[in-house]
Amino acid sequence: MLKIGVLISGRGSNLQAIIDACEKGEVPAQVAVVISNKADAYGLERAKKHGIPAVVLEPKDFKDKDAYEKEIIGVFDKAGVGLVCLAGYMRIVGQELLKKYQGKMINIHPALLPSFPGLHGQKQALDYGVKVSGVTVHFVDEGCDTGPVILQTAVPVLENDTEGSLSDRILEQEHKLYPMAVKLIAEGKLRIKGRKVQILK
Ligand code: GAR
Repeated sequence: MLKIGVLISGRGSNLQAIIDACEKGEVPAQVAVVISNKADAYGLERAKKHGIPAVVLEPKDFKDKDAYEKEIIGVFDKAGVGLVCLAGYMRIVGQELLKKYQGKMINIHPALLPSFPGLHGQKQALDYGVKVSGVTVHFVDEGCDTGPVILQTAVPVLENDTEGSLSDRILEQEHKLYPMAVKLIAEGKLRIKGRKVQILK
């Protein structure tokens, strides 16, 4: 069965959605290990509650980004990880991880990419005044939220939305879309062709 390594920085609600979908048998995969770059990330507690090893690796304890990412790879290798999911991991991924997990590392972003990449995608959408925003799950490449798109869901922006209310409605969709994307990968149904991701029947 496909083993997933999840990288987090905080709350970990998308991690929870993936764990739940795997445990229910909806996704033929298993979360094998969770790594956080922050010691106080609540997602670590979520992992522990499910008996999943939860590891804190703080960048400040390493001489540079390469050394930090080599340590992550070491932990993932030991756990037999074949797919890396970034779930609210608020760091730009570097060369080591990119090299090792090309086509095997995915991310979720709270906007319809290529609109509103980077931080605070929901606030960027509100400030711009778009009527529709949403969620994107994509493969990770060397850019910031620029990799080939796997799945997207649209979420309407309502007249009286605040950053909080829009984020909540987007998050609801994130929790559906991320497990769906993991399922497609676990079932071997995705092919990357240049910028396009083909979904096989
Ligand atoms: C989610 O909304 C995710 O899309 C976003 O951070 C939140 C993490 O929540 N990620 C990004 O903005 C990445 N650029 P979670 O920790 O509860 O899953």
